[in-house]
Amino acid sequence: MLKVIPVDQIQVGMFISEQNAEWIPEQNRTKSGLILRAETIGKIRQRGIDFVTIDTDRGIDVSDLPSQSSAFNRDEIGQRNFRQQEQSGVASPSVSLEDERTRAERIHSQALGLLDDVMDRVREGAHIDVAEVESVAEGLVDSVFRNENALACLSRIRNKDAYLMEHSLNVGVLLSILAKSMGFDVGTIRKLAVGGMLHDIGKVQVPDEVLHKPGKLEAEEWEEMKRHVTYGEAYLQQIAVDSTVRNICAHHHERLDSSGYPRGLGGDAISLYGRMSAVCDVYDAITADRCYHQGMAPTVAMKRLVEWSDDHLDRKLVYQFIRAMSIYPVGTLVQLKNDHLGIVVEPNKVQQAKPRVRVIYDLKYRNYLPVEDVDLASADDNYSIVRALEPSRLDINVKIMDFI
Ligand code: C2E
Ligand code: SIN
Ligand code: SIN
Ligand code: FE
Repeated sequence: MLKVIPVDQIQVGMFISEQNAEWIPEQNRTKSGLILRAETIGKIRQRGIDFVTIDTDRGIDVSDLPSQSSAFNRDEIGQRNFRQQEQSGVASPSVSLEDERTRAERIHSQALGLLDDVMDRVREGAHIDVAEVESVAEGLVDSVFRNENALACLSRIRNKDAYLMEHSLNVGVLLSILAKSMGFDVGTIRKLAVGGMLHDIGKVQVPDEVLHKPGKLEAEEWEEMKRHVTYGEAYLQQIAVDSTVRNICAHHHERLDSSGYPRGLGGDAISLYGRMSAVCDVYDAITADRCYHQGMAPTVAMKRLVEWSDDHLDRKLVYQFIRAMSIYPVGTLVQLKNDHLGIVVEPNKVQQAKPRVRVIYDLKYRNYLPVEDVDLASADDNYSIVRALEPSRLDINVKIMDFI
């Protein structure tokens, strides 16, 4: 099991699976492995990171240490969410996931096709037809309003070679879900969806050897990579897109403590749309398998968002995002107390730890089970979630969509 712990709780015998420092541009070395010497702990602390991820299957755990309090406090977030929920009320989907699925699949592949085309045209320096993007965004947002779980689930399927396209689409979907949960009007949500789809458009102007480099970027490569924002802004300036769309592109890498780029804006100088986009962008990026790192399970990614909301991300928006997605978003693989493996098919937005789960496999006896839906909110304690699992860490190949 992967756990995020503060650096001051690292002990000899723990297995560090991620120091989460490889993204600090000057410190791109990934260090993972078993901690054998106390000296190593000192070195990790010196690197200036606050949290590391340990793998308790491969090293010792923190369970005998008083660490739980500093780990992500699910109950606290659950409580908060519950209160917010009561205040604002949450509409349940108007259409079932099964019913929305086919439509969502069509919209999803149509959007990917369009983005493919748009990116080709931008690469050639040609203009794009914004109306086409807007019309796809409209279909997307309509689907989110009918049942957001369908598109949220499709965004879990990834093809490593199509990262940029899928990521752009996912940010559009995630922004729509977040904005809907905040009660935005549908017109604004459509603009946000377009903004999400085009936020990284400037990346097509970044040379492929930088964009697809499997690993650490050299200093100049990093400077070039950061220019994707400026390239995107310049491109969007030339075509008739809404200012909201340009703003999302311009602000999505700004960070609250002014450490972002390209302008180093801080706090409220970063637009609300920019701050929302940052949360959706980071979440989608870290849950994806890339040529240089493996995607995190949604639940682990959410813990990271909470940590990063100390200085980079807007904490209120991170909580709102988790509330909108729920801590076990649709498509999450979960291990239950009885060692059954299930897929979340419907998040429970009030009691977030108790989604509806489609049970498919027995992890202990390693055999498939007759598929059965269990509503954890009304099931006994044996059916409680022990952990979320990353598909890449299972020895069976679970195609999530086959079960939905
Ligand atoms: P992206 O991969 O789409 O990631 C978007 C943002 O998500 C990143 O913006 C960062 O804020 C966050 N993020 C993604 N993966 C990680 C991670 O493993 N750890 C942490 N802490 N944050 C993560 P950022 O850093 O400004 O990077 C912008 C873009 O530059 C990335 O977009 C990616 O295309 C590229 N990039 C950044 N670092 C590397 C690298 O080391 N190698 C390669 N090949 N590309 C990189
Ligand atoms: C990128 O496309 O942003 C980097 C390369 C990759 O992970 O596919
Ligand atoms: C981090 O804080 O390292 C990740 C999110 C961000 O890029 O600000
Ligand atoms: Fe970007």
